[in-house]
Amino acid sequence: MSLFQVYPLQPIAITKAIGSHVWDDKGTEYLDMYGGHAVISIGHTHPHWVKRIEDQLHKMAFYSNSVIMPIQEELAASLNKISGKQDYQLFLCNSGAEANENALKLASFHTGRKKIIAFSKAFHGRTSLAVAATDNSSIIAPVNETGNIIFLPFNDVEALTQCFAKQGDEIAGVIIEGIQGVAGIYEASTIFLQTIRTLCDKHGAVYIADSVQCGCGRSGKFFSNDFAGVNADIYSMAKGMGNGFPIGGILIAPTIKAKFGLLGTTFGGNPLACAAALAVLEVMEKENLIEAAAQKGKYLIKALQNTKGVKAVRGKGLMIGFEMEAGLESIRQVLLNDFKIFTGEAKPNIIRLLPSLAISMEEINLFLHKLNDAVQQLKQTPA
Ligand SMILES: Cc1ncc(COP(=O)(O)O)c(C=O)c1O
Repeated sequence: MSLFQVYPLQPIAITKAIGSHVWDDKGTEYLDMYGGHAVISIGHTHPHWVKRIEDQLHKMAFYSNSVIMPIQEELAASLNKISGKQDYQLFLCNSGAEANENALKLASFHTGRKKIIAFSKAFHGRTSLAVAATDNSSIIAPVNETGNIIFLPFNDVEALTQCFAKQGDEIAGVIIEGIQGVAGIYEASTIFLQTIRTLCDKHGAVYIADSVQCGCGRSGKFFSNDFAGVNADIYSMAKGMGNGFPIGGILIAPTIKAKFGLLGTTFGGNPLACAAALAVLEVMEKENLIEAAAQKGKYLIKALQNTKGVKAVRGKGLMIGFEMEAGLESIRQVLLNDFKIFTGEAKPNIIRLLPSLAISMEEINLFLHKLNDAVQQLKQTPA
């Protein structure tokens, strides 16, 4: 095989996808509770999304960021409206890592400082600064190592306060996921996010909300960091933003000023990606998907708490993690192989549910039913 083997693959080739269902090349149907890793926000191949991209493709696929792009302005206005960040500015790029990379650079440009605070178990992407702020030494190449990242324990108000007291005048920014995804679905506490806001204000640092996974409505609010009732200075987005069309972006508070040449990209904000992102926001609004995510998430979390074999459930909206009792660790593979359900995982033993926000109650109940059956099956299997 000529592909560079960096992904441990399931031996399944997905070739068709509609709504919350996918099919392999042999015609087997699967329920998608994984959303292609939190990417599918409005459902696979949603007809409005397909049409919006198709129409744009016929008009113009690409031109560079050296000319006025009305579709970028349209996207900025829609994001302002749906997120409630009316006066924030938009910079567009192509992925989550790039969004965070630009957010971190901007924090440094804005403050003239070098140090970034990040937290235990954080994942912010694989570009140089984003990966340096990621708490996983196995993916940090020697060239990415820097003394500029300060890792603190997640949700530890005291440690954060002490760090700012000691070196607040060196801190450019604090980056935090409102709900840690890769770590296994852990919510940042309200008091912790409020403390970040207060300390950033006091010391002139930039509060960056990594909303790549927990943003774009998945949590039941457009940005999950906003549950704490305070604004971040920069929100990074990607994943659900394009429903599978690659796009990322950062929303930037008006206090942070742009300068020509400060940031830039060739493909970021291309018209096809903007058309995809606009289609996502239009469908979210029309089908009331953010509220649906909140309600369906509540239902699913409660049902999981009452499911035999499930020992811990965490999350908000349709960003849910759960752990199984001892002896049931292979549930994810059983769900996939025997019950044809895709779920996500976080090592060592956490199942992640990141379905489309448009998943129906029937599909949620089907999942719960099959989860029960899978638990029964595993309990009857001799160890
Ligand atoms: C919270 C968070 N930030 C950043 C990223 C990186 O995004 P991408 O893979 O699009 O670069 C991810 C990806 O999983 C993520 O979960």
